[in-house]
Amino acid sequence: MNKFVYTQPVKIWFGAGKLKELGSVLDELEVRKAVLVCGHHYLTHAQTLQQKEPRICAIFSDVEPNPQLSGAVKTAELARANGADAVIGIGGGSSIDTAKFAAAIACGDGDPEAIYHGELPFPEKRLTIIAVPTTAGTGSEVTQVSVMSHGKEKRTINNPVFMPRAAIVDPEMTLSVPPRTTMNTGLDALAHALEGYWSVNHQPISDLMAIEAVRTILADLETAWREPDNLEARSRMAYASLLGGLSFALPKTAACHACSYPLSEDYHLPHGEACAFTLDSFVRINADERLEALCCAVGLSGTAELADRIRSLKEMAGLRMRLADLGEVDLEKLCHDCAVHPLMNNNPVKLSTEQLRKMFEALQ
Ligand SMILES: [Fe+2]
Repeated sequence: MNKFVYTQPVKIWFGAGKLKELGSVLDELEVRKAVLVCGHHYLTHAQTLQQKEPRICAIFSDVEPNPQLSGAVKTAELARANGADAVIGIGGGSSIDTAKFAAAIACGDGDPEAIYHGELPFPEKRLTIIAVPTTAGTGSEVTQVSVMSHGKEKRTINNPVFMPRAAIVDPEMTLSVPPRTTMNTGLDALAHALEGYWSVNHQPISDLMAIEAVRTILADLETAWREPDNLEARSRMAYASLLGGLSFALPKTAACHACSYPLSEDYHLPHGEACAFTLDSFVRINADERLEALCCAVGLSGTAELADRIRSLKEMAGLRMRLADLGEVDLEKLCHDCAVHPLMNNNPVKLSTEQLRKMFEALQ
């Protein structure tokens, strides 16, 4: 057996209605004042939360789907102006990633743009990060990743300064997620689990969580998609998303996520749909003894059945899955951008630009 180092520093509060215990989470973390970060659509909820919890001293609700550095800078300014010692991110990946970046820059006076570009280090001190996911997918509540855009540039920054101290995973928060987003985010979680498992950096404890995440997603994603109000299915998916996040936090993701960036940037697929676009292809490409063992553990006959199950979930929800669905495609550029993405190095099978071209051409 290989040697490994395992760590998971986030305290996790999980369960339906857990957000009602925000006060005791703040007590335990000794938070005096917190800025809350969310999207526009969550503002009314955020204000209700603020009425119940006066330690929420300010709300930043201008988070966009591809969160901009400017939002993190404004949140950090709000935190400084109010003397906050914590930032609470409530939402999908965008709000949580904004909260992470804001908390990481709020205690210094370095130029945020220089920090963003890696020309200046993050300040040594940072604010406490509390992550409250409202979708079952990103796993951002348990990772040290923040995906942040500045103008047209989009960077995935991996740094321990972004690790939340606490995650409150309340499945009730996901009840209002529309079916298509449920499918996109659920397949993102499936990609996290599979990629964490087949990453060249895989390790035994992460593997266990990946297997349980895959088992749960295959059993419950379709129900959560068909029956948005089914709290049990939503709870199972929230748990699977959390496990998915934990299973890739150390090994990191691989080829599907590498390909998702050009697919999102140039063809505007949402993150989960972009990951799902190549997920079944990579199940076939990466099929080996280990992946067969995972399939066996989750009750499938093998990797072919896993790929078929992913394909039928995409079909069922009407996700884009063929090259023709992307409009006019510059295949040369797409394959090049996928091939040079750093996450491609984590894939167990090394693919040339030519092999990637064949994979995309097969998606007709
Ligand atoms: Fe993802």
